[in-house]
Formats: sequence, structure tokens, C-alpha cells
Amino acid sequence: MKKVFVLGSINVDYVMAAPRMPQEGETMHGDGFFINGGGKGANQAVAAARYGAPTYMIACVGSDAFGAKMVEDLRGYGVDPRFIRTVADEVTGAAQITVIGGNNRILLYSGANYRLEKEDVDRALATAEAGDVLIAQNEIRREMTEYGLRAAYERGLVTVFNPAPARDLPASLLRYVRVLVLNEIEAAQAAGTDDVAAAMNELRGRGAGSVVVTLGKSGSRAADGGEVRDFSAIRVQAVDTTAAGDTFIGVLGGGLAEGQALFGCIPAATVASGLAVTRKGAQCSVPARAETEQYMREHGMPVPARP
Ligand code: RIB
Repeated sequence: MKKVFVLGSINVDYVMAAPRMPQEGETMHGDGFFINGGGKGANQAVAAARYGAPTYMIACVGSDAFGAKMVEDLRGYGVDPRFIRTVADEVTGAAQITVIGGNNRILLYSGANYRLEKEDVDRALATAEAGDVLIAQNEIRREMTEYGLRAAYERGLVTVFNPAPARDLPASLLRYVRVLVLNEIEAAQAAGTDDVAAAMNELRGRGAGSVVVTLGKSGSRAADGGEVRDFSAIRVQAVDTTAAGDTFIGVLGGGLAEGQALFGCIPAATVASGLAVTRKGAQCSVPARAETEQYMREHGMPVPARP
């Protein structure tokens, strides 16, 4: 089986549930608080590893106590941390998350995530081979994301890019992206249109090989080759949507590493993402493959064969 490399962020998530956002100058009580491992990159790595892919995280953490804890947590989820570097005199990336009615608002501090260098990418990709998967997002310095996608693409890796948080998506970047996965807001911002079909065409026209737009409760739409397909979401009671998209992307990457076609990866990614929404937190909400498959069997969905 091929490997999955995740180039991206590791954050400590400080999560508070609240009935509403406080106003300026106001102090109010929250409904609950906990700390857990997060970061779009790390969450995606956990999802790929829990789906069964040999998964390597390429990232930096700070020399604070949280850095070591985040690395150990990732190891516990099955992610290989050998390409995670600890940066002296820097804090581990942090996310302040407020959950209101199951939906989240996130404020980030990049910390060590912005200290990742080309050498970190090179060290990891030296162990990669054609057909491996590289997943990247927008929580490290843009030049590092661009460098990683290009280096991986030129080595024959299947490059998966999740441009979150949203930024511009020029042709000079998208030409190195085999699978672009983004939500409808990111798609609209990048393509300059609210029309999902038009946005997908625009982004493919700029060079992205295939495009998947996630649509929350409405599922997702994917364009691959000459075909476009819609996928329904599963019905769940949302407790916390944090890392739902990350779970989708990590499982998708795991499926691609098994050699599945893009459309074949999406049902399991959808189910895993839906299950993550029923649980609090980021990494701690990601289901194992067995849970995803059990749901698929119970609901009459075909289960992808394991390699
Ligand atoms: O996608 C969810 C993640 O976004 C959180 O875990 C947080 O750390 C931010 O990176």
C-alpha cells in the first residue's frame, strides 16, 4: 500500500462551548471547556491513519509542553511523527474555538507552524515514491505549501490540496494539484462565483485535476475526468462540526493511497466525516475505519475492499 504524507499544521485546540459570542467589553459564562489536539494538517493525518493508511506528518511543534504532547497524541492515533521537528523558543500552534449550537468559530495563532522549512519537506519527500499521496492545507506559510505541492507533484505523488483557511488559488499553484478539496465558501471566494458548478469549472480551468466541493449537510459534489457526481451526506445529530472536513479529506487521502478511484473514496469519507460531527473535538472525534465500515454495512452501502 502507498503512503500518505500530510504537510501542514499541528495546533492545540482550546475549545469552549457557549450559548452565543460575547459582545465587546462583555464577560459571560461558557457551557464547557476542554483542550485537545487539532490543526487541519494533524486532523487530516489522524483521519488517514485511523482509516488504515501508513501516514507521516510533516510539521513543526514548539518547545513548550504542548509540543511533546501533540506528537505523542499523533503517535497514539497511528501517525508516524518522524518528520515533525521541534522548534526552540517558539510555541506550538494554537486555536481558540468557540462552539455555539454545534457550529464553531476559530481563531488561530500559527506559532511553530510558520517555522517549517523546505528542508523539512525535502527530508520527508526523499522517502516518498510515485503513487504516494501528499495532503496540504493553508495553515503553514504559503511558500511552504506551494513548495511541497510542487515537489510532490514532480515526484509523481497524488497531491491533494485543501485551501483552508481560504486564500487565492492561482493557476501557478493549481497546476500542481491533482485533487482540490474545498468547501463551498472557499470555492466561491477562490472562483469569484457562488455557483458551485461554475466554481468547479473555473478551478479546473486553472489547472486543478479533479475538484471536490463539500457542502455540509447537503453532502458534496465531485468532478473527475469528464464526470460530475453528487454525494449525499449522512443524517446525524450535530454536536460539534470541528474537523468534519479534515476527516473527509484524511479518509479520502487514505482511499487514494489504496488505489481507489476518486468517486470510490467519497462514500467512506462522507460517512467518517458525518460520524466525526456526532462527537466533540477535533482529533478525538475522528472514527476508526471499522466504525465507518460498520455504519456503511448497517445502511446498505458498499464497503470498499481493503488492500
Ligand atoms: O479544521 C479544524 C481545525 O482548524 C481545528 O482543529 C483548529 O486547530 C484549526 O486548525
